[in-house]
Amino acid sequence: MTQDEMKKAAGWAALEFVTPGSIVGVGTGSTVNHFIDALGSIKDQIKGAVSSSEASTLRLKDLGIPVFDLNDISELDVYVDGADEIDGSMAMIKGGGAALTREKIVAAVAGKFVCIVDGTKTVDVLGTFPLPVEVIPMAREYVARELARLGGTPVYRQGVVTDNGNHILDVHGLRITAPRELETRINGIVGVVTNGLFAERGADVLLIGTADGVVRKN
Ligand code: A5P
Repeated sequence: MTQDEMKKAAGWAALEFVTPGSIVGVGTGSTVNHFIDALGSIKDQIKGAVSSSEASTLRLKDLGIPVFDLNDISELDVYVDGADEIDGSMAMIKGGGAALTREKIVAAVAGKFVCIVDGTKTVDVLGTFPLPVEVIPMAREYVARELARLGGTPVYRQGVVTDNGNHILDVHGLRITAPRELETRINGIVGVVTNGLFAERGADVLLIGTADGVVRKN
């Protein structure tokens, strides 16, 4: 089974968490693209979606799924998204696709976060995947110096501008044993919009696509 087939299995398994008649929170990335395809197969049974990126919005609209503005809805049952790494406490590193800020906003509104990954994404300790940090462009070098003081090596993701018009620093070399504390600390640096640690609001359910089928946690 290829990695993409494992992503597809996890993406389609997440349909189980979609309530008929509801608006669904939709993340970003190659695993979520499979979930969007799955949503397309039941589009007549849902009201629509709230999207975490321009890329996901395009894909949803292409399939004829109405996309709502988050400001126009007051509650969201479920948010389905991928992750770059997830640990045993359901804390994640996200933002490999640069959509972390909108992802964190939609996740904050949702009652339940369903994380869909292939088997390569589960780790004991977060940090092998470089931690993305979205920064206001004029603060980029200042924030990089502050992140270096935390022990990481920040690398500017050249040529990438987020959907919000900001820059991304990828912090290499972190071994994240206290994700909540680090999430709060990095968010406290002036000029940081948000960072890719999803620990304060981790996943509630994890669906892992493996060669032996989809494994569920929680
Ligand atoms: C997007 O910014 C990310 O948070 C994605 O959710 C994450 O990078 C997982 O992407 P894949 O499903 O493409 O691996």
